[in-house]
Amino acid sequence: MTAINFDQASELTYEKISNAMSNVQSIAADTARHFNGEVFPSHCTENQYYFDDDNYHGGWNTGFWTGIIWLCYEASGDEKFKKIAESQLPSFIKRINEKIGVNHHDMGFLYSLSCEAAYMITGNEKAHDAAISAARPLASRYRDKGEFIQAWGNVDDETDYRLIIDCLMNIPLLYRAAIETGDMHLDDIAYKHYLTTLKNIFRSDGSSYHTFYFNKQTGEPVKGVTHQGYSDNSCWARGQAWGIYGIALTEKYHYNEQGVTAFEKCADYFLNHLPGDLVPYWDLIFTPEDNQPRDSSAAAIAVCGLLEMCRYIKDKEKRAHYKKCADAIMNSLIDNYAVKPGDKSNGLLAHSTYYYKGNLGIDECCMWGDYFYTEALVRYLKPDWKLYW
Ligand code: GLY
Repeated sequence: MTAINFDQASELTYEKISNAMSNVQSIAADTARHFNGEVFPSHCTENQYYFDDDNYHGGWNTGFWTGIIWLCYEASGDEKFKKIAESQLPSFIKRINEKIGVNHHDMGFLYSLSCEAAYMITGNEKAHDAAISAARPLASRYRDKGEFIQAWGNVDDETDYRLIIDCLMNIPLLYRAAIETGDMHLDDIAYKHYLTTLKNIFRSDGSSYHTFYFNKQTGEPVKGVTHQGYSDNSCWARGQAWGIYGIALTEKYHYNEQGVTAFEKCADYFLNHLPGDLVPYWDLIFTPEDNQPRDSSAAAIAVCGLLEMCRYIKDKEKRAHYKKCADAIMNSLIDNYAVKPGDKSNGLLAHSTYYYKGNLGIDECCMWGDYFYTEALVRYLKPDWKLYW
């Protein structure tokens, strides 16, 4: 891919961001009339429309919907959004209290954006207790042999004895739970998981494997394998974006130079493999000639990660560079990918790909794409916004 000159992107104005956020609020308010607290939107759209789902059968995505509503509340101050978000909390509280669909690592995606956000914004103690409770099943997946959190399957099952790059987004719940409870074991295992991830999931060129296996008996690293990417040797676009934002989130809690270097390599690989409109194909191996669908959600995640890391990078020029990259990608998302009121869709960000080889959500909207697009808008509107992660 030819190197992109990020300086050439048009200016990202406050007015543009503000209009885009108004569109989000208008679509989300409309959508919330149907997805009302018990009924949740599906992972991704089918023919650009979300269908009915619930919060109880083990999915990883419902927190994004509640998170979008909290973001709309924070951006607008409109009490209607607060009420909608609050109406969704009982299902999260029930889910963790009754241990429904919690045998996986996605507790951060589910509880940071719903219940912990509720606590941060409104002081809701019940929601906070639910978020802290959700940190426990996540922590119980930590494996001493290998020093990582096992993402999927029953713990210690040899066929699933691996970490996945996405988990970098779940461990902030452990950092927060450690601060809130004083149980520093939670912080310790989260940080160990982070270090194990940095050491094994990234190749020397800064690209990533999606998942990485360890030997169950010895904890020795075994091999990197893809799940949602094109091949074991390619680089799944969303995985790389989880890397960008995930590293930035640990740097928030545990700043160190090793993380900054890892971030730069990971971000540079992503940025150097973008096509002309700055939104990646679903795997970074592809070029325009391959004619593959985009994953706009990866672009939105990367924008949030770049903006977050700009809070920690000490070098002024590097900070300015990554900010410029974030602005340029965001410009393209708003101009070319955002759904506008009146379009034939109830999503917010078009042209995402969930799982190409599984034939799931190809060139559709998805809940996390919608969430990270909205989070990015709020970051621009309110530079001192306190993140839920
Ligand atoms: N964390 C699951 C995904 O990114 O598809």
